[in-house]
Amino acid sequence: MKFFVDTADTAEIRELAATGLLDGVTTNPTLIHKSGRKFLEVVEEICGLVDGPVSAEVVALDHETMMKEAEILRKIADNVCIKVPLTIDGLKSCKALTDDGALVNVTLCFSANQALLAAKAGASFISPFVGRHDDNGFDGLALIEDIRLIYDNYQFDTEILAASLRHPIHVLECAKIGADVITAPPAVIKMLSKHVLTDKGLEGFAADWAKTGQTIL
Ligand code: G3P
Repeated sequence: MKFFVDTADTAEIRELAATGLLDGVTTNPTLIHKSGRKFLEVVEEICGLVDGPVSAEVVALDHETMMKEAEILRKIADNVCIKVPLTIDGLKSCKALTDDGALVNVTLCFSANQALLAAKAGASFISPFVGRHDDNGFDGLALIEDIRLIYDNYQFDTEILAASLRHPIHVLECAKIGADVITAPPAVIKMLSKHVLTDKGLEGFAADWAKTGQTIL
């Protein structure tokens, strides 16, 4: 399973990239706003920090303007992945862009039928929003299961990028279902390494090691 981080905070991305565990980055207009930086500039910097796909979202709602925005975003770097919304115009743009060799992430997916359309449009990634689904009284993880089943039924190459993940259990369940990629905020990714018994065990070992009076170096 690939790990993307959902942020436009370059300090956080740099820190996670240094672990060697990061496969890509996702951004959206809200995260760009949060960064307080210029969109094209911050995307360019992020593209230099990771080798994998960096999702940068178009903001137009019509196909023609989406294509114009995508043209500008594609010039930033080879690893830019154009993020388009799951609308008819977004799907039309997805088809045109992937036919032209671009990476495309279709975002704001809330149903398996939407995911089916994205796969038919040749999307590189489909982004179902698990947390927002849960927030609205639906079952976000069941959505990932349905999409997995449908994509496997027809051997679609589109990768399931489970997005809007809020806590480590979301990540665990996505891994069990077989999502291809997860994207989560830096704090959630860091939480995956945490366990109270790991901390307690380390404290015990450190205390006993001190009693030996030895050093390794
Ligand atoms: O980038 C898309 C998605 O991950 C947003 O997450 O937490 O704003 O629902 P959230």
